[in-house]
Amino acid sequence: MKTKFAIVTGGTSGLGKAYAKYLAKCGWNLLITGRREKILFQLKSDLEQKYHIEVQICIADFNNEIQFNDLLETIKNCSHVDLLVNNAGYGSREGFFEEDYENQVNMLNVLVSAATKIVHEVVPKMLKANKGSIINVASMSAFIPAPLNYFYCSSKAFMVSFTECLHIDFLHSNIMVQALCPGFIHTEFHSKMGVENDKKGFKEKLLWMNPEAVVAYSIKSLSKSNVICIPGFVNKMVYNLMKMIPRTLSYRILNRQMPEHHHPEYCVV
Ligand SMILES: NC(=O)c1ccc[n+]([C@@H]2O[C@H](COP(=O)([O-])OP(=O)(O)OC[C@H]3O[C@@H](n4cnc5c(N)ncnc54)[C@H](OP(=O)(O)O)[C@@H]3O)[C@@H](O)[C@H]2O)c1
Repeated sequence: MKTKFAIVTGGTSGLGKAYAKYLAKCGWNLLITGRREKILFQLKSDLEQKYHIEVQICIADFNNEIQFNDLLETIKNCSHVDLLVNNAGYGSREGFFEEDYENQVNMLNVLVSAATKIVHEVVPKMLKANKGSIINVASMSAFIPAPLNYFYCSSKAFMVSFTECLHIDFLHSNIMVQALCPGFIHTEFHSKMGVENDKKGFKEKLLWMNPEAVVAYSIKSLSKSNVICIPGFVNKMVYNLMKMIPRTLSYRILNRQMPEHHHPEYCVV
């Protein structure tokens, strides 16, 4: 029997690293991507030694056309792909009107164009094998349009809708898809945006999750009946509440969250 093989994008930290570790522990061979070369080599060596698996790494900035095309070429050469975790991503430090438009487009490129191009490359292999799974990492931001972070929220909403389209198309096949929509997770995501959070406060304990818990829930939830996967009780409650309250009311509530002057306390998930 072939050893299971997964591609995890953005595996150098946070959620991606947690997916890589989880799958390695289950005996899967991996292709892991990231920009930080040293971390990738260290992760490869750690996982190979500890779990006796094969780890391929690909150093690729998704905004660098040559590096990204190399990744696509590597994927093309994979004999089979059992799982794709489309995870690489980041949020912008500034609001839409404060930041350079080019920077915002680069973020969109990583969150949407690169993610969907990888799906485009991987799906024919899955269709040929009539099996495989895709986890597209979206966010609770897909359902909570936040002022200032237009491109981040709308790209996550895009990924949810894109995943649902895939699901409908693959309904009668053995291909499973998931749009993972986490809330706040303890990763490098927010610190890269200049936001530090107090891990010990009551609110933080209630709202923030560890990446390992999110990954375990995501993998456990992979099924035909759970396309939109929302980890955490509070996130589920917020998701259901957002569906129940009138849009006009939610706009007012969300508008009240907007700071008079944009500051890092105001952040997306
Ligand atoms: N943390 C949260 O609260 C939260 C909540 C909801 C959804 N999410 C989503 O979860 C996913 C993972 O984020 P995380 O929280 O784990 O953050 P993280 O710790 O900052 O990890 C982000 C990963 O994406 C990679 N990446 C970033 N920019 C890239 C680029 N231009 N090209 C290629 N790879 C790039 C990073 O690799 P290098 O740095 O090595 O390039 C890193 O491995 C993202 O899609 C994010 O939107 C996060």
